[in-house]
Amino acid sequence: MKKLVSLLLILAMAAALLAVGPSALAAGTPNSEKPVIWFNRQPSNSQTGELDMDALTWNANTYYVGFDAIQGAVLQGEMIVNYLQANGAELDRNGDGIIGYVLCIGDVGHNDSIARTRGARLALGTAVPDSAQGKTEVGDINDVDPTPIGTNTDGSATHVQDGAITIDGKDFVVRELASQEMKNNSGATWDAPTAGNAINTWSAAFGDQIDVVVSNNDGMGMAIFNAWSKEAGIPTFGYDANSDAVAAIADGYCGTISQNADVQAYLTLRTLRNALDGVDIMTGISTPDAAGNVLSEDLYKYDEATRCFYALNGAVTADNYEAFLDATAPNPAFNNQLTEADAPTMKVWLDIFNSTDNFLNATYLPQLENYDGVLNLDVEYVKGDGQTEGNIIDRLANPDAYEGFCINMVKTDNAASYMIKLS
Ligand code: BGC
Ligand code: CA
Repeated sequence: MKKLVSLLLILAMAAALLAVGPSALAAGTPNSEKPVIWFNRQPSNSQTGELDMDALTWNANTYYVGFDAIQGAVLQGEMIVNYLQANGAELDRNGDGIIGYVLCIGDVGHNDSIARTRGARLALGTAVPDSAQGKTEVGDINDVDPTPIGTNTDGSATHVQDGAITIDGKDFVVRELASQEMKNNSGATWDAPTAGNAINTWSAAFGDQIDVVVSNNDGMGMAIFNAWSKEAGIPTFGYDANSDAVAAIADGYCGTISQNADVQAYLTLRTLRNALDGVDIMTGISTPDAAGNVLSEDLYKYDEATRCFYALNGAVTADNYEAFLDATAPNPAFNNQLTEADAPTMKVWLDIFNSTDNFLNATYLPQLENYDGVLNLDVEYVKGDGQTEGNIIDRLANPDAYEGFCINMVKTDNAASYMIKLS
């Protein structure tokens, strides 16, 4: 009897669970309950990096998709140091005992950019504690001061220090000769033309001291490579593994980091699809969907508490670049067409914050376009000017017309303005 009672109890509980379990989003769902996927710019305080949990938990169907900025930044630093170690003492071109580098910073308020600046300084020994965050020693990458220094040819800057490296048994000083945020006059960040101008100024003023160029992304790195370092033969490192940068490795561009844009683009649309269908959020991610789409575990991680998905990064150098030449190729592991019966076509609004950002337009967008049709999402793509949030939000004139939203903010602090729009 007891057994029967507990069996009935279990059945009743299971039925209750099923009743409140996920279900497809009904027609007429208010905009405030529709899925929102933040991507590429993580809702966070641009000063402190603290996550904006109001935005990340805006409704039950809100997620962030990005990549592991710290893991990638550490990898970029290691890639640069490995190169220095392998390429020996001739790197000190003017023979002054100093390996000098310049650093292009993307956006001082963007956590990806901050992480990369920190990773490079940490690896090269030029890091000092971030006093603005109350840090007194550099225990790990998060403690590093990411402030741009302007020019530092004499080694007197306070936001960095001179580092030391031994190459082939010979000791060198490592100096950050200059760094600046690459922001244009209208306010667009990660700005490649600004980086091209900066290297012209820097090389004219202290060109023979520059032995290495480090850039927070390939857009700026390639602008420098094309303007100066290719011809001057200066090792140049970027980030993103855009196709043009990977191709340039054959011509002497030294290395970049793939943040696996295929994985991120898929996750951006996939999480939205799952939320729309009311299925488990890991469908087609950790567990195969009906069409066989699945991500292998080594490609991403998910932090359930903050609802953030992160693609993992890989280094791309002369040793392996041939496999990365087409950054826009879809990944066959998750490029299988869903049926209209399983996943009926839905209308989605998605913005790219800056129509001239190399990574987002040349790599991420083509990857989104690979997967939108596969996932039966009819996506309206909107591009911003990289500076004005309002310009993007104004173009979401009629949110009622869409079933879900994928948002790439101009500034990581601005999530609230989108939420107001959807309220
Ligand atoms: C990319 C940059 C890009 C930026 C835009 C970063 O993750 O690496 O290349 O400019 O996102 O937000
Ligand atoms: Ca030198």
